[in-house]
Amino acid sequence: MRVGVLGTGVVGETLGSGFLKHGHAVMIGSRSPEKLAEWMKENSGGESGTFAEAAAFGELLVLAVKGTVASEALLLAGADNLAGKVVIDATNPIADKPPVNGVLRFFTDLNESLMEKLQKQFPEARFVKAFNSVGAPKMVNPEFASGKPTMFICGHDADAKKKVTGILDQFGWETADMGAVEAARAIEPLCMLWCIRGFAQNQWGHAF
Ligand SMILES: NC(=O)c1ccc[n+]([C@@H]2O[C@H](COP(=O)([O-])OP(=O)(O)OC[C@H]3O[C@@H](n4cnc5c(N)ncnc54)[C@H](OP(=O)(O)O)[C@@H]3O)[C@@H](O)[C@H]2O)c1
Repeated sequence: MRVGVLGTGVVGETLGSGFLKHGHAVMIGSRSPEKLAEWMKENSGGESGTFAEAAAFGELLVLAVKGTVASEALLLAGADNLAGKVVIDATNPIADKPPVNGVLRFFTDLNESLMEKLQKQFPEARFVKAFNSVGAPKMVNPEFASGKPTMFICGHDADAKKKVTGILDQFGWETADMGAVEAARAIEPLCMLWCIRGFAQNQWGHAF
C-alpha cells in the first residue's frame, strides 16, 4: 500500500519506518520536507514531501501532528487529498499547558473529542483513532513478556477499521474496536492515563 504520513515528530517517523519495514511505500509530509533528510538516509526507499504531496501520495494516511494544529495540518494536506481515504489518527488533544500532578490537560472536553471535530471538518475522510495511547518506541512490533498489547480503535467507517485492524496485525497488536467516532471521547484520554504512570515513575515502556 502507498502510505502518506502527515507529521515529522517521533510518531510520524516511527510509523513511517514501520510501514516501510512491512513492505509499504511511504512518503512523510511536512511544512519543511528538508527536515526529513536524516530519516530518508536511515530509511531506504522512504520519501518526503509537503503535507499536500504526502496526502496525495497515500492510499492510506496517518495523522501524526501536534493536536492543537491537527486541523491546520489537514487543511494544508487538502480536503480533496483526504476524500475517501482511511486516516489513522494518532493525535491527542493535549493543551499547551503543563500537566497537573502528572495529569495532562486537554483542550477538548468529555463530550467532544478531537477526532469528532476533525471528522466533522473533513466528512469525506475515514478517520480511525489508533496509536494515540502508547509511546512511539512501542508502536511497531513491541515485545512484552505478558504477550500482545491491545490497541483501542474507533471510527464511523467499518471498512476503514477493518483495514486498520489488518495493519495492527502486521504491527503486532491485538485490536479492540470500541465503536463509532464518539468513542474517541474515551480513547483520547487513555493517553492521559498512560502518561500518569510515566510522570510518576519515569517509566515510559508500558502499553495497555
Ligand atoms: N510522542 C509520542 O510518543 C506520542 C505517542 C502517542 C501519540 N502521540 C501524539 O501524536 C502526535 C504527534 O506527536 P509527536 O511527538 O510525534 O510530534 P509533535 O511534536 O506533537 O508534532 C510534530 C508535527 O506537528 C506539525 N506542526 C507543528 N505546528 C504546526 C502547524 N502550525 N501547522 C501544521 N503542522 C504543524 C509539525 O510539522 P512540520 O513537520 O511542518 O514542522 C510536525 O510534523 C501528537 O498529537 C501526540 O499527542 C505522541
